Amino acid sequence: MAKKIKKIGVMTSGGDAPGMNAAIRAVVRACTYYNIKCIGYYRGYEGMIENDFIELTSRNVKNIINKGGTILKSARSTAFRTVAGRKQAYENLSAENVDAIILIGGDGTFTGGALFSKEYDIPVLGIPGTIDNDIFGTQFTIGYDTALNTVVEAVDKIRDTASSHNRLFFIEVMGRDAGFIALNAGVGAGAEEILIPEEDQPLEKLIKSLKRSKRNGKTSSIVIVAEGDKTGKNVFELAEYVKDNMEDYSPRVTVLGHLQRGGSPSCADRVLASRLGVKAVELLLEGEKDVMVGIRNNKIVATPIVEIMRCKNSINRELLRISDILSV
Ligand code: F6P
Repeated sequence: MAKKIKKIGVMTSGGDAPGMNAAIRAVVRACTYYNIKCIGYYRGYEGMIENDFIELTSRNVKNIINKGGTILKSARSTAFRTVAGRKQAYENLSAENVDAIILIGGDGTFTGGALFSKEYDIPVLGIPGTIDNDIFGTQFTIGYDTALNTVVEAVDKIRDTASSHNRLFFIEVMGRDAGFIALNAGVGAGAEEILIPEEDQPLEKLIKSLKRSKRNGKTSSIVIVAEGDKTGKNVFELAEYVKDNMEDYSPRVTVLGHLQRGGSPSCADRVLASRLGVKAVELLLEGEKDVMVGIRNNKIVATPIVEIMRCKNSINRELLRISDILSV
């Protein structure tokens, strides 16, 4: 029989995402509601290894639902990748009588969690928190919606100056391995072209499309480039390439960078984080372990973490087609 859960440890790990605080708040308040203890580890797995934690009560998490970042801080731990690091973390958890852990993060976080739950008998529950939206087992990750809105707002502003000066802009957005942000924000902001890691787009196609736009009377254009696009050129080299091939263009480049990870979470992210946080605690109390909670068709679902690591969410190719049609 599964051990009764009396104390839960929660942490945030990997790249931070708006809404992580709302998720921490939901976990802590659900623990209070069900009369169990909760402690928060600082800097993800690093805090577990260094035994750096704080006791969390409902009052500790007041006024954070609207805050970006994470009050528990975040890190990508190299020590946790070692056998010794994970052993130290387990010993610390046992000494504190922590019965289960809730991990809020992305794929790196869950890789660590999968390994840990295989080696040690401690239930692990995942909550997807990353702006990249690249986690299998959920249609939306916490932080993605806010990041999309941030990108669209920034591109709208760049469009103003692009239009005033009849300029072409290359805008780099986050997404080392996934094009969810680029594709959705690209369509939402009316980009001319969208370059993503999932699609090997020849550079000639880009030039052809920009030339077609010029012929059709467009005076300014926006190209959205995901960090991990497959052109083999970075965003500055892309701009140079276009300049060399279209002399009448003097392209400009904007890298949006980490501003995409900050800011107050959108309402959608706050609601998602609240639902996932409560469900994570409830599943642990029901004896569930080694799963990640996610959302599918507006229902909260749980998927084994090993499956999350094995599978990938695919991008919506229909959006590429829509983007092509609309950039005419
Ligand atoms: O959070 C995920 C992510 O935003 C990726 O899209 C990006 O490549 C990466 O984080 C950059 O993170 P950092 O600067 O923290 O290494």
